Amino acid sequence: MVKFFLDSANLEEIEESVSWGVISGITTNPTLIAKESGMSFEPMVKQICALLGNNPVSVEVLGTDTDSMVNEARLLSAVASNLVVKIPMGIEGLKAVYRLNQGKKKIACNVTLVFSVNQALLAARAGAAYVSPFVGRLDDISWDGVGLVREMAGVFKIHGIKTEIISASIRHPRHVHEVAAAGSDIVTVPFSVLRQMANHPLTDLGVERFLRDWERSRESEEM
Ligand code: G3P
Repeated sequence: MVKFFLDSANLEEIEESVSWGVISGITTNPTLIAKESGMSFEPMVKQICALLGNNPVSVEVLGTDTDSMVNEARLLSAVASNLVVKIPMGIEGLKAVYRLNQGKKKIACNVTLVFSVNQALLAARAGAAYVSPFVGRLDDISWDGVGLVREMAGVFKIHGIKTEIISASIRHPRHVHEVAAAGSDIVTVPFSVLRQMANHPLTDLGVERFLRDWERSRESEEM
């Protein structure tokens, strides 16, 4: 069944959405972490990981060469057992993913900023546990974000690739069901989109009408 992650570093949003029983993980990125000014980085990451139990929390490295990515990844993964290291796509990133998957203590990687099937195939081959195609950013340049996810999921299926697809850069609820229909394993959504997914004006209207009809029937019984 398709899983939903929250794309956020905001503790209130995380706590609230986890309480809905629909969130199976968190993704963050440097932009989202920078928005949460009140807290320093490591305590924030620790707290997010604790709120998620055993579910994965992706945190991105900032290094741009393989050695610094690998060193950062090792430090980050020591923060919590459910921490997944987010590595930007590219040759340096692929080498880092490969190295982090060697030896006894493998570190789960989420390869981010993926915009083509070939990038996803390379990331999977290097050992990525997850790949993150950016749906909205492709749509922004008049490309087809959902189409990319569909193609990627199709190729992964043909080849029995176990790397999970996390559709990211989700801008609206329509993206969510479209990438789910396209075969995405996971969709990571901003809190505003998660809330929009749960709501519908006809649901609100329906509840209002049921309550009004109930009250009316009670009033007429009392008369
Ligand atoms: O977490 C990465 C991704 O979801 C970013 O989304 O809206 O900045 O393209 P956006």
